[in-house]
Amino acid sequence: MMQELKNKFAESLKEVANTSLLEQLRVEFLGKKGLLTTEMAKLATLTPEQKKAFGREVNELRAYIVTMLEQKAAELQKHEMELRLKAEKIDITLPARQFVFGKLHPITAAINDLQKIFARLGFAAISDREIEDEWHNFTALNMPEHHPARQMHDTFYLQQEGMLLRTHTSSVQIRHMQNSKPPYRMISFGRVYRSDYDATHTPMFHQIEGLYIDKEVNLGHMRYCLEFFLREFFMVKAAPIRLRPSYFPFTEPSFEVDVLCDRSNKEEIRIGVGNDWLEILGCGMVNPQVLHNVGVDPCQYQGFAFGVGIERLAMLRYNIPDLRSLFEGDKRWVDHYGVNG
Ligand code: PHE
Repeated sequence: MMQELKNKFAESLKEVANTSLLEQLRVEFLGKKGLLTTEMAKLATLTPEQKKAFGREVNELRAYIVTMLEQKAAELQKHEMELRLKAEKIDITLPARQFVFGKLHPITAAINDLQKIFARLGFAAISDREIEDEWHNFTALNMPEHHPARQMHDTFYLQQEGMLLRTHTSSVQIRHMQNSKPPYRMISFGRVYRSDYDATHTPMFHQIEGLYIDKEVNLGHMRYCLEFFLREFFMVKAAPIRLRPSYFPFTEPSFEVDVLCDRSNKEEIRIGVGNDWLEILGCGMVNPQVLHNVGVDPCQYQGFAFGVGIERLAMLRYNIPDLRSLFEGDKRWVDHYGVNG
């Protein structure tokens, strides 16, 4: 009888493929109504002699079943854990997702640099509107209505009477002087518009203009500031300049500034070396009439102003041959000429 039970158990155990079936088998044999439990109930009906032998047999069988169940449980758990590990495996050999870092457009990079350079000289960076009125763009700058000087700029006029797209950022300086008291030490920068389009002109371009007004500001200060900024911007030891007399309605005297350069290599203009000159910017002492127009007393205050095209600076610094390429929005171009942020 016991042997039969043992065989039945052993047979069933072989078939068991998972822990829940194993539990069913345990209940079948050892549960309250299990086969072995029923067997043990028979004990009560036996003589003391029979009890002894039977009891031992039942206990042996019970111990055997318990051991086998434990063994099988351990086996199954190990197997099931292996299956789970396999199923949940994370493939850490998959390459990480790439971050693509964009580059700053050379114009943006140049503006950032120029702001930093002028900040070192104490110039605040100020920006303002691109749609201007004639007074701030022209009249206040000593370019009265119907004056031929206005023809120097090929202006985009708006339909609204007296409104235009600013032709230079000098209008920002006018607004700044109107809104605050001297002294002034500022740069203005941003987009400006002129109706012009060829290999060296685009209808929109960027300017940075500087203004320094105080009681004793003179041309010596201007020269120092310009040489400092050119030297820092082009990252050269020195950037000697040459002032040539010129004309702007808003400055008197006015100058064109040439910077020393080497043009012997056709591929690249080098700044600050050689024995050639390159025209780079316009400047001068602010015309007393302009100070008067914004309510600053020209008998107490004087100073200088300058204006530079940022495209020109960026093209020289990053050796970009074609102006128009700056505005094509070609990502490959930006990846090539752009600057890490
Ligand atoms: N506003 C001038 C321009 O756009 C540049 C300039 C500024 C020249 C200040 C001299 C002094 O042409």
